[in-house]
Amino acid sequence: TIYAQILAGGKGTRMGNTAMPKQFLPLGNKPILIQTVEKFTLEDRFKAILVVCPADWLTHTKDLIRKYVTDPRVVVITGGSERNDTLMNGIAYIEKTFGLKDEDAVVTHDAVRLFITKRIIDDNITAVQKYAAVDTVVPAIDTIVRGKDNAIEEIPIREYMYQGQTPQSFNIKKLKAAFGQLTEAQKAILSDSCKICLLAGEEVHMVRGEVSNIKITTPYDLKIARAIVEKRVTI
Ligand code: CTP
Repeated sequence: TIYAQILAGGKGTRMGNTAMPKQFLPLGNKPILIQTVEKFTLEDRFKAILVVCPADWLTHTKDLIRKYVTDPRVVVITGGSERNDTLMNGIAYIEKTFGLKDEDAVVTHDAVRLFITKRIIDDNITAVQKYAAVDTVVPAIDTIVRGKDNAIEEIPIREYMYQGQTPQSFNIKKLKAAFGQLTEAQKAILSDSCKICLLAGEEVHMVRGEVSNIKITTPYDLKIARAIVEKRVTI
């Protein structure tokens, strides 16, 4: 069984001062979150599509889903303070509601990446049936440098560098086991969910994303997204 989980539990601090967290902001004629959810409802293979939102925004999120989405598979639950807490809240809901079998998998996606394509979702579903964990990536365009205190420590070969996007997809039982092995200190610094599986020694398979699969993070990203939605730029 395959589930989808839309991660919408963040506060969007890098967006600056907005009336509501960025995933709820309108873009064109609909909130960003709704446009992301709609991409997932196009896929028949998901048994349930979880939308995981901040606790303070539960009523608002439920109202939005009721207003815009008719697909009965979509459910709204509350997330946690870190992105991985939000992820694990969703996993706990799946286990409690549907039970957990060895082959069950989840396709997780940032609520603020509304330009996700059906092709990327399909590639994630295919890959997660074979691998414990799947990441969506694009080759790095810029040279990536690693450094600290204004000094470069390493310049990795660009050919081997990628930028991580979402979806990130997981065999649920293996993700739970990997998360359970982490220390509290590790959990606190882990900003990427695939790294949980990497630390547990699982192979994390890469599928090709798209440059257009942007994450709306800053006001600049919002301007780009608006230009795309208003068709001033085509992707
Ligand atoms: N997210 C989440 N739960 C959290 C934190 C983040 O579900 N506790 C989600 C966000 O809602 C977003 C996605 O993870 O859809 C990507 O994270 P990011 O862009 O970093 O979102 P925020 O944490 O909201 O932004 P910021 O870091 O600027 O505060």
